[in-house]
Amino acid sequence: MDIQNPYGHFSDDGREFVITDPRTPAPWINYSWNDGYAALVSHTGGGFSFYVDPRDNRILRQRYNGLPWDRPGRYLYVRDRASGAVHSLTWCPTETLDYDFYECRHGQGYTTITTERGGIRGAVTYFVPRTDPAELWQIELTNTGAETRELDLFSYAELILGNALNDLINQPNDKHFSDVQFDAELQALMATRHYWVTNRGVSVAQPNQAWPYVLAVGFVGAEVASFDGGREAFIGRWRSESNPIGIEKGKLSGSEITHGDPCAALHTAVTLAPGETKKLTVILAMVPKETAQESARELLATYRADGAVESALEEVRRYWTSHLDTLQVETPDEILNVMLNVWLRYQTAVTFDMARNAGYYHGGLLFGTGIRDQMQDLWGDALLAEPNRVRERIIEVLGYQFADGSTLHNFFRIVKAGEKTGHSDTPLWVPFGIMCYLRETGDLAFLDQTVKFYDGGEGTVREHLARAFDYVLSELTERGLPKFGPGDWNDTLDYVGRGGKGETMWGAGFLAAQLRDAVELFRFIGDQSRADGYQSAYDRLAATVNELCWDGDWYVRGFKDSGDVIGSAQNTEGRIFINAQSWMVISGIAPEARGTRALESVAEHLDTDKGPQLLGPAYRTVDPTIGLATRCVPGKKENGAIFNHAAAWLVLAEWVAGNGDRAWSLQRRMLPPVVGQDADRYLTEPYVTSEYVTSPEHPTFGEASHSWLTGSGVWTYRNCLDWLLGMRPTYDGLLLDPCLPSDWPGFKATRRFRGGTYQIEVTNPNSTSGRGLVSLTLDGVAHDPSQPMPVPPPGTTIAVRAVMR
Ligand code: NOJ
Repeated sequence: MDIQNPYGHFSDDGREFVITDPRTPAPWINYSWNDGYAALVSHTGGGFSFYVDPRDNRILRQRYNGLPWDRPGRYLYVRDRASGAVHSLTWCPTETLDYDFYECRHGQGYTTITTERGGIRGAVTYFVPRTDPAELWQIELTNTGAETRELDLFSYAELILGNALNDLINQPNDKHFSDVQFDAELQALMATRHYWVTNRGVSVAQPNQAWPYVLAVGFVGAEVASFDGGREAFIGRWRSESNPIGIEKGKLSGSEITHGDPCAALHTAVTLAPGETKKLTVILAMVPKETAQESARELLATYRADGAVESALEEVRRYWTSHLDTLQVETPDEILNVMLNVWLRYQTAVTFDMARNAGYYHGGLLFGTGIRDQMQDLWGDALLAEPNRVRERIIEVLGYQFADGSTLHNFFRIVKAGEKTGHSDTPLWVPFGIMCYLRETGDLAFLDQTVKFYDGGEGTVREHLARAFDYVLSELTERGLPKFGPGDWNDTLDYVGRGGKGETMWGAGFLAAQLRDAVELFRFIGDQSRADGYQSAYDRLAATVNELCWDGDWYVRGFKDSGDVIGSAQNTEGRIFINAQSWMVISGIAPEARGTRALESVAEHLDTDKGPQLLGPAYRTVDPTIGLATRCVPGKKENGAIFNHAAAWLVLAEWVAGNGDRAWSLQRRMLPPVVGQDADRYLTEPYVTSEYVTSPEHPTFGEASHSWLTGSGVWTYRNCLDWLLGMRPTYDGLLLDPCLPSDWPGFKATRRFRGGTYQIEVTNPNSTSGRGLVSLTLDGVAHDPSQPMPVPPPGTTIAVRAVMR
């Protein structure tokens, strides 16, 4: 690989990112999760866990804004009985010590951290098993020295057990309800809380309920020699995780608590002959409170059976292999290969389940699941690998749609509530997501499924979809443009249109694109009258936009309630916005000459060598009639950073326009391993996209933030798959329409589609930049390249050979 990173590299098969120096510029994290239980794991053993909702049902604690950062964690300490020397197997929280070896391997659904110090090598694999609400810390300890070693091993986790927001804002009160006892029969700490806050918002009202679970924490393959259930007893006065008193003494105090900060600390003794390796595992398992002992006995027994932990880890690996097998590409670009075959896909699996909620930058306290985000994220890995889960998720989201077609903006799973903010775009992501699902799966029967509306009544999926359009079209301004409302996709243009008059041009492009897709769908299912209605709405919108919104060299971004324009050459700041150009091209609204000019203007005014800015010049004057974007420092976030979600839409527009070289050049510079190679500047993980990278308008140009939970993951993945490689799902089959850069001789891909497989090879003998196939054969038989390829029957493979013009 021509790209290096000072802190780590991809494994040869691309399936792992291997961190070799723990002093990364930020915690570089990973996720492991199943349907209910989720764990975030940093490369030094940090991270938190939760069950179903990171706000309402937090299990392990993360301390916000603390120093040192990334505390506490899932810590494992080794103490040498002869010398009393202590070190952590994951570097933190004893990072001031010298280590002889450190390596962290983040893979799909697991993280393995290996360290060596003082002749003790420890490898810890953290993972959440596929089926049970639990996390496992599998430990391998090896004596690499020549003497027998008498060791103590301590595991430690700090617990919340309930509402994380309440934990933060009502700490002293929350502490009165914790309860941790040691169950001698199960050899496990049993931790619970006799109080659970599930208020829909912040409130002093006391819900009269207990946390309905018990967290059982025990060893697999080791005896408990001592334990602590209270943090104070374990850590000791005026100490921290770096030097707990319990570990210094070599024996834990046996604390059981009925108030205070709960923890789960266990101790076992390990003797290792020279060269000997011993294995043990720490298990944290959630069980229902009513049947706590019985359920814990069962679950612990499951994992205490011979080979059970290893099998559970194998199952995790198999699960991800089956996901990744749905698509494998071989392009001339090794970085793209690793991103498309593994990491972008894995990132979209994470965003599908974590939304913009459970992350190191989104602390899991505020956002819940955004409907806008959810309906985009479902287009990623899950759609190819587990379309049934996508179907279920769409049904869940439709449950937050009102009968008039509007929606909540976000929702929280446990309380089944969210906010209705009035963002103008949110309702329209509903049809977007449904149509993505339908094109990929061909599951048109889904349209007939009945789902309840949030405010009562029910309708088929088709009605839900149609009502979203009806609602959005009924909300247009007098001039026929979408209202801005308290924000569109851009949450920080939040005061442009609160009066109900402001108009969004990105919204117009997005609406037009959805109308065009709806025309295709309704035509396909034979509802010509709806198709015609949407076609007329599209035509009217296109005409209005072109009449009112062309600024001379680009499209304006919108109009305020006052009628003043934003994103125009008339403005001195925020003169041009990327989204108003890209979506006019993506939606086909822009006549060719205007589309070309708009994209040229982006190149002239917004390009940087790390990607295009969201807008330019960034705002330097606070404008309360625009909002948050103007309050943000120039060059960061939505005030003119390289905002990767929007940047991905620009690349898409370039591909749609057929500009193969320009699109790929933009795309490549933004791939995380490329833009992230200057790691000390970039800061975040080089294996997943980040929400934004600072632009030259900020002194830190090139600094990334908000990694993992960003829509740029799914759009970068889909753009490369659907437009660069050109494998686009249609209702009739997969259309092959690549848009290659001229220096690519071709590519190969194996793509699963509705149960069958296309095995594709495209050659580019004339170094074409752009679109256009001259020939296409299916199993050796010529096929019209302008037509979708027939769907391979389930279990069969079609060999596709195509030649670029
Ligand atoms: C992040 C939010 O999660 C996303 O929904 C939004 O579209 C972007 N910020 C842009 O403001």
